[in-house]
Amino acid sequence: EFCKGVNGLDKVILRESRGSSAEVYLYGAHVTSWKNDHGEELLFLSSKAVFKPPKAIRGGIPICFPQFGGLGTLDQHGFARNRLWSIDDDPPPFPTNTLSKAFVDLILKTSEEDSKNWPHKYKKYLICCLCLYFFKNLLISYFELGILCFLMLLYTVLFVCSFEYRLRIALGPGGDLMLTSRIRNTNSEGKPFSFTFAYHTYFSVSDISEVRVEGLETLDYLDNLQNKERFTEQGDALTFESEVDKIYLSTPTKIAIIDHEKKRTFVVRKDGLPDAVVWNPWDKKAKAMADFGDDEYKHMLCVEAAAIEKPITLKPGEEWKGRLELSAVPSSYCSGQ
Ligand code: BG6
Repeated sequence: EFCKGVNGLDKVILRESRGSSAEVYLYGAHVTSWKNDHGEELLFLSSKAVFKPPKAIRGGIPICFPQFGGLGTLDQHGFARNRLWSIDDDPPPFPTNTLSKAFVDLILKTSEEDSKNWPHKYKKYLICCLCLYFFKNLLISYFELGILCFLMLLYTVLFVCSFEYRLRIALGPGGDLMLTSRIRNTNSEGKPFSFTFAYHTYFSVSDISEVRVEGLETLDYLDNLQNKERFTEQGDALTFESEVDKIYLSTPTKIAIIDHEKKRTFVVRKDGLPDAVVWNPWDKKAKAMADFGDDEYKHMLCVEAAAIEKPITLKPGEEWKGRLELSAVPSSYCSGQ
């Protein structure tokens, strides 16, 4: 079902026969709502979320691509979350989702701007060299100008990327939410490209201090709050009493988020996504974010299926697939898992 969302932005509503539903904005291919068959919202969406390009929507499931974080030449978490996606009228077959009738296929293709802004490590060096050259020689000859033009041309041929990103968002018969990303290198110049990725899922929880995450114990992680230093998690399930921003490495394909108060367990199943980010801004950072309520940190937890430590490299014609499956079940059903 197609309709207009906040600020007239296009959105698609998926409804499954037993009553569960999901809402997807074409802006960012962003899932902003996922409800179970009792109509309860399972994702956190900030009451202060801004639905206005180029700002990414705060909450739901933003897609971080082609860069997780802010280290490269792109904006923090890449551009996929603030581009307008299109409906993919000609999707490739998705064998694993055949049971689902409620789904939407979206596509994002390379724009000229995105292709130029791709996070290449050489790009900033080239730009620095050119700037230095200009500062040193304010007057340059036609010959030098010719060389510069040639270098710029070479740059566009060598470093331009082109990709096709296809995303299927589907609701399973039991209300499970499934996201399947397929990213293909469509570069005709024969150049590979690399990217990092995350499904930045904001789960809605009753009270963060009553939440436990299982599946990440004893694993190594990079702590974003301590200069990405590497540590090893202890043996207990994770609980939360202060800000957390960690990238867990080589994680299992299944992670559980247990909400004691709601007696609900979210099960995250993932494929092709070895890492998992756990993030909660807590009180101080919450206050510093304009699009996030001061106390909202108590009611959310991000557990993000990701590929960060080892960037994915695609040769021309190659395709990468990354799948996320979310289910919400009564806690007793999951006990002992
Ligand atoms: C998390 C990062 O995934 O996203 C955090 O680990 C970051 O470092 C958070 O603060 C929110 O990012 P943004 O760009 O949506 O404000």
